[in-house]
Amino acid sequence: MTKKLFIETLGCAMNVRDSEHMIAELNRIDNYTITQNPSEADLILINTCSVREKPVNKLFSEIGQFVKTKKQNAKIGICGCTASHLGSEIFKKAPEVNFVLGARNVSKIKDAIRQDKFISIDINYDDSEYAFGEFRANPYKAYVNISIGCDKKCTYCIVPFTRGKEISIPHELILKEAEKASKNGAKEIFLLGQNVNNYGRRLSNGNKDEFNFSKLLNALGKIDEVKRIRFTSPHPLHMDDEFLEEFANNKKVCKAMHMPLQSGSTEILKAMNRGYTKEWFLDRAKKLKYLVPNVSISTDIIVGFPGENDKDFEDTMEVLNEIRFEQLFSFKYSPRPLTDAAKMMNVVDDEIASKRLTVLQNRQTQILDEIVKKYEEEVKEVYFEELRSNGMVAGRTFENSVVNVEAGEELLGEIKKVKITKAQRSSLFGEICG
Ligand code: SAH
Ligand code: SF4
Ligand code: F3S
Repeated sequence: MTKKLFIETLGCAMNVRDSEHMIAELNRIDNYTITQNPSEADLILINTCSVREKPVNKLFSEIGQFVKTKKQNAKIGICGCTASHLGSEIFKKAPEVNFVLGARNVSKIKDAIRQDKFISIDINYDDSEYAFGEFRANPYKAYVNISIGCDKKCTYCIVPFTRGKEISIPHELILKEAEKASKNGAKEIFLLGQNVNNYGRRLSNGNKDEFNFSKLLNALGKIDEVKRIRFTSPHPLHMDDEFLEEFANNKKVCKAMHMPLQSGSTEILKAMNRGYTKEWFLDRAKKLKYLVPNVSISTDIIVGFPGENDKDFEDTMEVLNEIRFEQLFSFKYSPRPLTDAAKMMNVVDDEIASKRLTVLQNRQTQILDEIVKKYEEEVKEVYFEELRSNGMVAGRTFENSVVNVEAGEELLGEIKKVKITKAQRSSLFGEICG
């Protein structure tokens, strides 16, 4: 009889890939198959995110819910970034939890399920060359890790404390994985790392890789079956000319760039330890728009970082108005344990931070309403990757806009020309035209 796994994945794409690794490993060693129903599972995994406080607070009430409804002998495992930084505290607060596996330790899932109260949270554990099994939640889009951890130490961010120092995966392994995935039908390769354009600085043996990120993109572009390349997250500091030119000239690299601004104020950027100024960010965004006139730029912004005054916030609004991002992920600053910013005393009043978030988001809504109009009546190449419950199939344009078309699953995995008939803020609608 096969065993059943219920897995909940929070956080970023790196967690999605870690979950895929664990699913593959559990299937390989114990024949686990996935269930969407936690009450019939033999193993319940929560792959956690720690980047802001709210989901961490919700974790324990969620464990409580699972304890009430689970099968009697079902195990519960807590994995990911919250596991890394709370460690054995999780057993104390929730004694029903059977094992705790940090974000950098997912390859130890095989030991974790055999041993009660197993814990492994070593953020320097190196599984960067571990050969995982094969499982992809979406067979059309292959997530491929290119580095693990992060060396940056932005003062607000817990990630370096949950995923450890930055280690690049040798380019030969990345190319091999991309080749395999694309031969299996994934026309799109999605490269993952916290700081992808810093790729190649340190392998697990301490040496540099022969390839930097631009060279890696170039080599990936030469694989016939790979039709599209995306990546997340690049860092604005490492957006040098070589990288922007490769991004512009490589025909397979999708023309959507994530440029996480965080703040438009040079003072605040300094306090955040981001390593760039407002001027550098604007200069890079302008160069990018010059090289790729139809580029779609997305960003992350934090409001209410300690010390942020009205003038600092105005600087952020200025960048928002000048660059006109096509997607904005915006957050109210959330103090995180272990970080330097959590010790800063010049806290911004919560009401002021909330107001700034509303001003920022309202302005972005206006900008988006103006931007999306340009897509109406245009013809776009769409790669279809997801069946929707409302009888539509969704895909993405080269610039990363979501497009919905009334059609069936025969479109999945296909790249088609689509005429855009309706453009809304969050998605476009269209008809196949070739
Ligand atoms: N490596 C990526 C970020 C990963 S975390 C980068 O450098 O862009 C994703 C986003 O969460 C960050 O870009 C930031 O905007 C937000 N974030 C991180 N820590 C936060 C905190 N303490 N409070 C609020 N937002 C935070
Ligand atoms: Fe966090 Fe900064 Fe590293 Fe991104 S670059 S993961 S924000 S420390
Ligand atoms: Fe969250 Fe960890 Fe990713 S904190 S955003 S799951 S790296």
